[in-house]
Amino acid sequence: MARRAGEIAAMKLGCCYYPEHWPEDIWAEDARRMAEMGLRLVRIGEFAWSRIEPEPGRYDWDWLDRAIETLHAAGLHIILGTPTATPPKWLVDRMPDMVAIDEHGRPRGFGSRRHYCFSHEGYRTECARIVTALAERYGQHPAIVMWQTDNEYGCHDTVLSFSDAAASAFRGWCAARYGSPQALNEAWGNVFWSMEYRSFAEIDPPHLTVTEANPAHWLDYRRFASDQVARFNREQVAIIRARAPGVDITHNFMGFFTEFDHHDVGRDIDVATWDSYPLGFLEQFWFSAQEKAAYLRQGHPDIAAFHHDLYRGCSNGRWGVMEQQPGPVNWARFNPAPLPGMVALWTLEAAAHGAELTSYFRWRQAPFAQEQMHAGLLRPDSTEAEAADEVRHAAKVLAQIGPQAAARAPVALVFSYEAAWVLGIQPQGASMRYLELVFEWYSALRRQGLDVDIVSPQADLSGYRMVCVPSLPIVPEGFAERLAALECPVLLGPRSGSKTASFTIPEGLAPGALRTAIPLTVTRVESLRDGVAEPADGFAVTRWREDVATALAPELADAAGRGVVFRHGKIRYCTIWPDRALLALLVERMAGEAGVERTELPRGIRLRRTQSHVFTFNYSAQGVFVPHLGATLPPASWHLAPL
Ligand code: GAL
Repeated sequence: MARRAGEIAAMKLGCCYYPEHWPEDIWAEDARRMAEMGLRLVRIGEFAWSRIEPEPGRYDWDWLDRAIETLHAAGLHIILGTPTATPPKWLVDRMPDMVAIDEHGRPRGFGSRRHYCFSHEGYRTECARIVTALAERYGQHPAIVMWQTDNEYGCHDTVLSFSDAAASAFRGWCAARYGSPQALNEAWGNVFWSMEYRSFAEIDPPHLTVTEANPAHWLDYRRFASDQVARFNREQVAIIRARAPGVDITHNFMGFFTEFDHHDVGRDIDVATWDSYPLGFLEQFWFSAQEKAAYLRQGHPDIAAFHHDLYRGCSNGRWGVMEQQPGPVNWARFNPAPLPGMVALWTLEAAAHGAELTSYFRWRQAPFAQEQMHAGLLRPDSTEAEAADEVRHAAKVLAQIGPQAAARAPVALVFSYEAAWVLGIQPQGASMRYLELVFEWYSALRRQGLDVDIVSPQADLSGYRMVCVPSLPIVPEGFAERLAALECPVLLGPRSGSKTASFTIPEGLAPGALRTAIPLTVTRVESLRDGVAEPADGFAVTRWREDVATALAPELADAAGRGVVFRHGKIRYCTIWPDRALLALLVERMAGEAGVERTELPRGIRLRRTQSHVFTFNYSAQGVFVPHLGATLPPASWHLAPL
């Protein structure tokens, strides 16, 4: 699937398949049925270590050779996963200290998956060995169009480990960053509770402390852990690249997940893919009871889109969906079935954001083990499940509309993994949740029909017509100057510029370096408990408020006259957690100033443009009259028009 920059191909459909789960005599029929359904890709191998290497050093390639040949013979192309998320029992028994240790000091046991520590040198050597063997055998195979490293780094809470291996790697990481223990003590403020170290060897991970550990210690531990994930991935990428030159490499990221810096990992791969479970995510995350009820079988209209736009920004624009929910899943608290039409709609939404592929998880529901309650495209008895016909339909629509390239969006929304860590480490208010804050800003833009690129703070922001920064506590070098130089409206959210890189309050107070962009000083912050909504002019102050000293007159104030939004030229600073009414007002004003066309969309309706088409989606469970179409869209349906 290797593509040159700028080349556009139609989105391909695929599925996740586990030949090792099924008798060999049904593989050929499975492959034929996949192709008949409109699938072109099949991902295999990512959990098959115990079958590839049943005993130390004894490889069994025959079955995998035959599986690959059988799938290829049906015209399918293969995404081959490295099996490092599931080290076999013999390996764990050989080096029991390879498992991660959780925050409470407990080892993560064998018997499911992801039971490894990213810092364990012995395990990294074993991974290099199995990945080398796999890449040597299949690197040049014409059926294999993409490699997937591991599976969902961090799934089941596995980024952080507090093992001896991690502790020792962290000490080395600190030494490289600070040079001397004195410099580290100074940066972290270790004098505070006599926490000073005399040598790097004295430093432990920040867990099992009596009360909270130093936030600077935590932030560095998170940075370190993120670097360990990136390094682990990079090692596999280097091995595969050397043996499969020109073949794309991906990793399948997760939804609503910020435990490591995906922009970092994204730089090392060719295609960022993610695993899209809109109903599971709606159930598991912060959404209100009303939203959970209204979007029970469709997922909130911005869940999939948010991640499409986020991951498009993680890997130079090339991205896709590696696992698409096809029916009820097994892992949320409650697991409803999608409304008829939603599987096709989710597929089209991915195409509308410029995906290269959408692959369904999984081909056939497993009758055994952990995920037997998770739907597939087929039931365990091989009859077609509800999603199968929707996949056929989506495949036809995709063929009709042809290649769709993501258009450059008018709005950039700046997303920072480090910001998520900082606000998580010291939230100061129980409902200060970075992901939720960014999601609310994103949703506000989408409710007005705007397309959004979610970008890293390092991204080139010139050329956008609006820039939104929901919160950026640590301002990277040069960012404030780049903002000040922009000619478009910019909106900065609360807590931006409130910390230095070593988690201290900046000299001259918040927003620190951002004073280059807007002259104000945050003199006090307060958090408000859930349910408090202090009235202002058409909106309410909730969750968070900052007092500000400035010569600027407020653009918007609360009922007591305290400034809520300040504006200096094109740049605005918002001192509160903006509620939906305030966000709507700000989006309207900024779009007006930027001359960006808006469309107030009815509840549950969303728009998305590619370079050639405009897609309108109805995420509502009812038919909705859509003014810009002059027609009613049935539930779980879409309308597609050339631009
Ligand atoms: C994903 C994972 C898959 C499967 C799926 C079930 O997180 O990558 O292997 O477990 O969830 O929804």
